[in-house]
Amino acid sequence: MSDSRTTSSVVRPNSGPARADGVGAAATPLLSIQGLVKDFGGLRAVNHCSFDVQTGSITGLIGPNGAGKTTLFSLISGFHRPDEGRVYLDGEDVTGLPPHLIFRKGLCRTFQIPREHKSMTVTENLMLVPKGQIGETFWNPILFPGAVRRQERELREKAREVLEFVELTHMADQPAGAMSGGQKKLLELARTLMADPKIVLLDEPGAGVNPTLMGKIREKIQLLNKERGITFLLIEHDMPLVMELCDPVIVMNQGSKLVEGPPAAIRTDPRVLEAYLGGQYAALDG
Ligand SMILES: Nc1ncnc2c1ncn2[C@@H]1O[C@H](COP(=O)(O)OP(=O)(O)OP(=O)(O)O)[C@@H](O)[C@H]1O
Ligand SMILES: [Mg+2]
Repeated sequence: MSDSRTTSSVVRPNSGPARADGVGAAATPLLSIQGLVKDFGGLRAVNHCSFDVQTGSITGLIGPNGAGKTTLFSLISGFHRPDEGRVYLDGEDVTGLPPHLIFRKGLCRTFQIPREHKSMTVTENLMLVPKGQIGETFWNPILFPGAVRRQERELREKAREVLEFVELTHMADQPAGAMSGGQKKLLELARTLMADPKIVLLDEPGAGVNPTLMGKIREKIQLLNKERGITFLLIEHDMPLVMELCDPVIVMNQGSKLVEGPPAAIRTDPRVLEAYLGGQYAALDG
């Protein structure tokens, strides 16, 4: 299905280059994690994990259950503080900053289990997202009612555009709790778009989603990457999706990066097969 119809201002190109293949020095990676460690009691969930995500890429992050992928997202986005290691966003050290500050710097994440506000409408869920709403303090609506109303209008318009882009316009006034699992995954993606992100971390966008909606999600990610220059780091267990969408693919195992490479090489790498099969045998034994 062609999508030119939905190419609204939501997907207008960024001012920055989508692909920094510049002459001379290597470009700074948009995201760089270096030696991250996270312990939960006696369990080491992330173990000296390091890798870069290049500007303009759709980088895949795969690995067996419990490999530490979601925990890594939480470390990068500020939801957990690493015990060791650093996180750099566009060359800036953002280690240990709270989630809202990392978010303001252009890094958005989605959750493995969607976190919509069930009783609010889909539009209201989106309007909650953006940073620094002037209506949020007690006195601003009293002192600056015009400015608050103007900002609310702009937010509503932005939400309308974003919903059109993800093809959920028909759900705009429905409570978010009434959406299907796949639609909730689309809403998670939509929430990140309200913030004009530089990089989006997607945690299993395809989990529990039917094939039709899955195709739509894939198409939206590709479009946002190509036309809007948004970089993606994407956790996914659906291998055909990863192979089609991502380059490079990073494989995590037992909290560390096991291997990184183009999808075709990852598919046949014996270390990757061993990591997955080893996990299966362990599960069978258990
Ligand atoms: N808040 C927590 N408290 C204690 N242990 C945790 C916590 N979060 C994760 N873990 C443990 O850390 C390890 C890594 O979990 P994580 O959720 O990061 O894995 P994952 O790679 O995302 O797995 P999956 O593919 O199943 O989503 C697991 O052993 C998990 O049980
Ligand atoms: Mg996970």
